[in-house]
Amino acid sequence: MQKQQLQFIDKHITDWFQHLDGIIPNLIKNMVTETKENRFDLVTNVDKQIQNDFEAYLEKYFPTHQLLAEEKNNEGIEPYQGHLWIMDPIDGTANLVKQQEDYCIILAYFENGQPKLSYIYDYAHKIIYKAIEGKGAFMNNVKLESPEVLSLKDTIVSFGSEYVNEKLRKALYQSSFSVRYIGACGLDSVRVIKGQFGAHFNTNPKPWDIAAQFLFARELGLVMTQMDGQHLDFAKGGPFIISNKGCYEEILAIINDKH
Ligand code: IPD
Ligand code: CA
Ligand code: CA
Repeated sequence: MQKQQLQFIDKHITDWFQHLDGIIPNLIKNMVTETKENRFDLVTNVDKQIQNDFEAYLEKYFPTHQLLAEEKNNEGIEPYQGHLWIMDPIDGTANLVKQQEDYCIILAYFENGQPKLSYIYDYAHKIIYKAIEGKGAFMNNVKLESPEVLSLKDTIVSFGSEYVNEKLRKALYQSSFSVRYIGACGLDSVRVIKGQFGAHFNTNPKPWDIAAQFLFARELGLVMTQMDGQHLDFAKGGPFIISNKGCYEEILAIINDKH
């Protein structure tokens, strides 16, 4: 893909994010929450409306582009072919409902299976994180440097404690500086991207939870794999870790009980 084409798409997406600022406040004010598979699995009118809006936007400006997204049926999508967007319209819906903070919109653009553009929009704080293939990563258009190399004993590790057993939880507390968890995969990952956390892992993310992180990791020299170190497929999801290079091996050894 030509750089100019990526810039053209990026400009469009930036405009679309700006347009959201005109509709989200009202959606939040009149928020309607439903449950999906269990009482902790929430979806709101905000999630649905953002996704519908983006789907209509793609149909209007990029009708050949496919959309793989959380709140829709994704049958028939060919993720490794042509133009593909992966979207989590609200990542951290429980945070949106309970705290009105610490949620984000995740958007990633792939061409023939290659990540080209990535966005994580921290809406509550009005910060757009983006990565452009070959150009780097940005926070509200200010270029981000690769984080410094962090050793596990000096850094914070992030994971949902409900997903790990007691032994692993203790081992991670003992070997790291400390443990924190925001509860939105995109924003926990952003902390790694910015060097505030050494690593974030999630035992069962879906493609939309992790799609944007691939390009940030590539542009900033982070490591992103399955939790056993194997290659991670953006279209399949599954256990994942995004990590600073300085602590990746050690965390993996602890997770897989090989330390
Ligand atoms: C969830 C959040 C959460 C993670 C879950 C995700 P949602 O996304 O990212 O941090 O632990 O695996 O499903 O449901 O709020 O979009
Ligand atoms: Ca999510
Ligand atoms: Ca979601």
